[in-house]
Amino acid sequence: MKQDQAQKLRELYQRFNHGYQEKATKVVSITSGKGGVGKSNFALNFALSMIESGQKVVLIDLDIGMANLEILLGLNPAHHLIDMVKHKKDIWDVIEKGPNGLELISGGSSFNEILDLSDEDTDYLFSELGKLQGYADIILFDTGAGLSKESQRCHLAADEIILVTTPEPTAITDAYSVIKILHHQDSNLHVRLVVNRVANSKEGIAIANRVRAVTRQFLEKEIDILGYIPNDSFVFQAVLEQTPFYLKYPKSQASKWMKDIVNIYLHADAKNSSISGIKGFIQKISHLVKK
Ligand SMILES: Nc1ncnc2c1ncn2[C@@H]1O[C@H](COP(=O)(O)OP(=O)(O)OP(=O)(O)O)[C@@H](O)[C@H]1O
Ligand SMILES: [Mg+2]
Repeated sequence: MKQDQAQKLRELYQRFNHGYQEKATKVVSITSGKGGVGKSNFALNFALSMIESGQKVVLIDLDIGMANLEILLGLNPAHHLIDMVKHKKDIWDVIEKGPNGLELISGGSSFNEILDLSDEDTDYLFSELGKLQGYADIILFDTGAGLSKESQRCHLAADEIILVTTPEPTAITDAYSVIKILHHQDSNLHVRLVVNRVANSKEGIAIANRVRAVTRQFLEKEIDILGYIPNDSFVFQAVLEQTPFYLKYPKSQASKWMKDIVNIYLHADAKNSSISGIKGFIQKISHLVKK
């Protein structure tokens, strides 16, 4: 028996015999207003830190055509999300194994296939994603910059969104615009803010408080502050080396602060019981697609 077949059977066995179906699978969508603020690096290294804390994570690259995550990992996956839909592959066949137990579904790098999905394709995509219910603790969607129609649907259907900004005024303004647009479609949306590339924690706190004050004042919306990541040359270095900074440079400031974010995240999560999971995600997104 080929090794990957054996692995698949093992996973099936585990799912059906160890109560995986009962596990709540949280769906988190990562976004930003301005591009290039560090979403993909955040998504990848957050996933790795969550795994280190005992969480099972599936990371899905919805920035289709850009292959951000596979480049950051130095991987060249044989299959990707669109491939799964177009060739009716099983979701277990397109999950790529990354370092330290990371599981990745790549968006693929051929842009022209994207987003001309028929109703049948869309239903197939959702039914395959539905299989992840109970398989992982958390499904993380990394999306492209700004709000395309598709990424908006993903954010609105998710249990929560993590919004990444940097201290740059344009990034902050665009982050606020994202909150505003999404808030007008669903005022209950749970938003958590990460300020990336800060000079120090004081700057991070000041920026986060400013965004929080503005959303409170103009939208009467409360957002959570998840944390800060410093501007760290090790992040840049790790990108060049196509290795996640959390693995290559565990002692860097960026890795230490990421660990803090995960601790806060898991601690806050214990209090946060409203998880619709992947089934809820599929219900909501189907509704949004048919609107
Ligand atoms: N904390 C950081 N410290 C130093 N450099 C960083 C940090 N975060 C991100 N960068 C730099 O910013 C670049 C862009 O990061 P990344 O690709 O994660 O952004 P993105 O928001 O996913 O971009 P896109 O909108 O194009 O998807 C990285 O290649 C890295 O050089
Ligand atoms: Mg990206």
